[in-house]
Amino acid sequence: MSNLSVDHLLGIKYLTTSDIELIFKTADNFKKIINQPIKKVPSLRDITIANLFFENSTRTKLSFELAEKRLSADVINFSSASSSVTKGETLLDTVNNILAMKVDIVVMRHPNPGASVFLSRNIDAKIVNAGDGTHEHPTQALLDAYSIREKYGEVKGKKIVIIGDILHSRVALSNIYCLQKLGAEVRVCGPSSLMPKHLDALNVSHFSDLKEALNWCDVANVLRIQLERQAVNYFPSLREYAMVYGINKNLLDSLGKEITIMHPGPINRGVELSSDVADSKHSIILDQVENGVANRMAVIYLLAGKIKNN
Ligand code: NCD
Repeated sequence: MSNLSVDHLLGIKYLTTSDIELIFKTADNFKKIINQPIKKVPSLRDITIANLFFENSTRTKLSFELAEKRLSADVINFSSASSSVTKGETLLDTVNNILAMKVDIVVMRHPNPGASVFLSRNIDAKIVNAGDGTHEHPTQALLDAYSIREKYGEVKGKKIVIIGDILHSRVALSNIYCLQKLGAEVRVCGPSSLMPKHLDALNVSHFSDLKEALNWCDVANVLRIQLERQAVNYFPSLREYAMVYGINKNLLDSLGKEITIMHPGPINRGVELSSDVADSKHSIILDQVENGVANRMAVIYLLAGKIKNN
């Protein structure tokens, strides 16, 4: 297959396994390029991309921007804190105004689940979801699965536990879809109050006990507690959470095996991960960041190919 089965990247849910494999093969090529002295290709010289960030972001925004520039696209950036959204403009009006400037692809992060699906139905541009509230964060899941593939050769058959605030995490849902499509076994671990009710429907089982989870897995993908999304208290205190679900070096050393530690960032050091784990040889956190650029280049390149074919 030479292109994606979808016109937008709205969520991993909508991708086929072949789509994911195509993105990874394309990312393999881009990873080689960004490690050469000349890190750029002229592929998207005629494409204009708008990065619309209605919610805070550091690495995702920088990673998309770098990916777009490495493909030689023209890039415009917008963040809602400094925009007319604070003056009451609707999402559709904001985006239509930007599209009047002839934008081909919109990369959007938004606090509302479904915002990018809404946009894809209402405007004439390719949409990439860079995180929509608690719903999906597809490029994060792609770079996470790609990093596991890079470390182990394949994702199929690997045991991956996602630890922490599954209830409020778009990274968790996208990871579950992506890893399962690639044939991994996925489980989750954390306090019951931070587990969604639909875990059974996702075919994911739950560990309450951290050590049991770590002993089971090959890879632990550790998430941040999403305090900004929590309207009520889901656990007594961050200190207590860290005592029960924080991963430190002593705990890793007490396992009878080596496991790989991942984290999408930003890390709350001393809460979900101690520094000696985050910075240890077990951690592939910085590989994830590097792979983020290659995977975002792949997604944008493949979607842009669809524009030219139209
Ligand atoms: C994640 C996000 O924004 O969902 N971060 C990211 O994209 N690198 C996870 C988080 O905020 O904890």
